[in-house]
Amino acid sequence: MTTEKKSFYISTPIYYPSDKLHIGHTYSTVAADTIARFKKLLGYDVFFLTGTDEHGQKIEQAAIAAGKEPKEYVDKIVESIVHLWEVMNIDYDKFIRTTDAYHVKSIQSIFRKLYEQGDIYKSYYEGWYCTPCEAYWTNTQLDDGKCPDCGREVHMAKEEAYFFKMSNYAQRLIDHIHANPNFISPESAKNEMLNNFLLPGLEDLCVSRTSFQWGIPVDFDEKHVVYVWVDALSNYISALGYLNDEPQLMDRFWPADVHLIGKDILRFHTIYWPIILMALGLDLPKQIYGHGWILLKGGKMSKSKGNVIDPIELVEKYGTDTLRYYVLREMPFGGDGVYSEDNLITRNNADLANDLGNLLSRTTSMVDKYFGGYLPKARYFDTIDTDLIQMATDVPFVVAEYMHAYEISNALAHVWKFVSRVNKYIDETEPWVLAKDENNQARLATVLYNLLESLRIIAVLISAAMPQTAAKMQEALQFSEEAMTWQSILTFGKYPAENKICPSGALFPRVMTEEEEKRIEKRMEKEKKKMEKNTETNNEIKAEEVTEPYPPFKETITIEEFAKVDMRVATIIKAEKHPNADKLLVLQADLGYCQKQIVTGIAEFKNPGELVGKQIVVVVNLKPAKFRGMVSEAMITAVGDYETFAMIVPEKEVQAGEMVK
Ligand code: ME8
Ligand code: MG
Repeated sequence: MTTEKKSFYISTPIYYPSDKLHIGHTYSTVAADTIARFKKLLGYDVFFLTGTDEHGQKIEQAAIAAGKEPKEYVDKIVESIVHLWEVMNIDYDKFIRTTDAYHVKSIQSIFRKLYEQGDIYKSYYEGWYCTPCEAYWTNTQLDDGKCPDCGREVHMAKEEAYFFKMSNYAQRLIDHIHANPNFISPESAKNEMLNNFLLPGLEDLCVSRTSFQWGIPVDFDEKHVVYVWVDALSNYISALGYLNDEPQLMDRFWPADVHLIGKDILRFHTIYWPIILMALGLDLPKQIYGHGWILLKGGKMSKSKGNVIDPIELVEKYGTDTLRYYVLREMPFGGDGVYSEDNLITRNNADLANDLGNLLSRTTSMVDKYFGGYLPKARYFDTIDTDLIQMATDVPFVVAEYMHAYEISNALAHVWKFVSRVNKYIDETEPWVLAKDENNQARLATVLYNLLESLRIIAVLISAAMPQTAAKMQEALQFSEEAMTWQSILTFGKYPAENKICPSGALFPRVMTEEEEKRIEKRMEKEKKKMEKNTETNNEIKAEEVTEPYPPFKETITIEEFAKVDMRVATIIKAEKHPNADKLLVLQADLGYCQKQIVTGIAEFKNPGELVGKQIVVVVNLKPAKFRGMVSEAMITAVGDYETFAMIVPEKEVQAGEMVK
């Protein structure tokens, strides 16, 4: 038996360095990165390729417009693309540039080989040319006289050119598509390619240009440059060293397992590319997967429409993993997704901050509070646990199945079903009730162990989609690399016994939606006007009465600054003395959708007993801080001290979690 790893080769499209990359481009690369990381997690020998597609008339023109040499022009943009992938935490194995010498060598050799064996011949070309798409169209292909791909103006062009006899291979390709039902995915794309292009009959493809310079010269006829799509598509094999001096990886990785692409470039990948490969005598990629687009309300994002969304700005605002999660989760399998910043914020607040972030912070703070961060090795199982453990054991198999089919959104949705199940387990077991009774310590430890173990499984399951978050969870739960493997989550109970955890701050800060912000702003504006009125009249009366006692007012802030403070009504459900500090009390505050622990210096003014059941106003978006080993996740509001001490409370009972405005 061989112990050799199975190989897996995935590629993204190589991007044009002419446009600013937007969140739509980010999708292909984040999706490919997630699949590649997942296969690595499963033990595959993975090759993940991405890069840039740098030749062609469009880029030559953009360079001229910018007053630069094309290479100088693309170098700068390629730098920003490499930076974008760094920001998005893309772990590619190779970044190919079509201006790299080894790629140029491959292309020239491929072109020569195809010419020498008679697949390519020299003639003239005349037709409708779309410059932005670098494509010739026939009369019948035009859509209302415009380019059928992008809808822009085309112009008549004629040039001496080399042609590829596509029709020689059409039948073989049709047979291949029928024999391999997954070759073109999704199904709708397959039918479109067959019915619109292959079955009507293929025309020979014009594969060289003389009308501009910026391309790879045909080495035996230098006034021609190779058609940019032949140049670009061949990156998938030149990167493996095909007909060049790079490391020879063809045996190890070809045929590719999947070319992940947007549906706009299906025709090039499912017709021209397979035919070029057939002519070269190479195997065809196992699958070409055309994903949908990220749309804006007005349609597809594009530079020409001026409606691009900059992923770097979004990462600065929300973080890499929030953006990764958002694009992966919102793109349905085989369909389009509609982008909106409010949806992104909702995903961040609901799925990430509330469901996952709170689960981690609730669990770790309970382990910290009840056991000082150390779980004793006590096991006391209950029937309630069986259902949780059953789901924990099934979830990796379901997720793997979705991931193998590249249904990333479904895989994540399933992980979040499990996250909800674990949250429900806390409600079912009520650890804070167990904690009240000395006799329940073993049961309490078991419940908390099951929570830690579930969180470990979640960390491994999301590690491909959200590597930084998984690492933060690993840090908080303090488990080794060994417990971070796929194998380790196939059986429940691999979280190390008697392990010291390390509670962390919030995994994902909550963000306000624009709507919430506007609502608050409006109310503030009203309040401000009211206050201005009041102070005008009050000043006259109070001027002589007020002598000293108040400390001077702090410097003026804007409404926007004030709106950053998130104050809520909390119901105190538990209050006790801090185990290691006389002046501190530890409160458990119910905020409706979650609980927070508050450590506060009021032990000299209040007895824990009189606090339980009270509603108070708390600040919930302060950075969590530790006081004598216990985490405080919010701050109470109060005035005075000793006899004058009073907490700020709502005038009558309200919903816990209600926002103070
Ligand atoms: O096409 N939503 O490069 P490119 C989803 N150089 N995907 C989108 C998108 C959106 N709004 N906008 C663009 C090229 N994309 C060629 C590829 S491969 C040998 C050569 C996707 O920079 C688009 O569908 O125009 C394509 O898959 C990828 O971004 C690169 O687009
Ligand atoms: Mg494009």
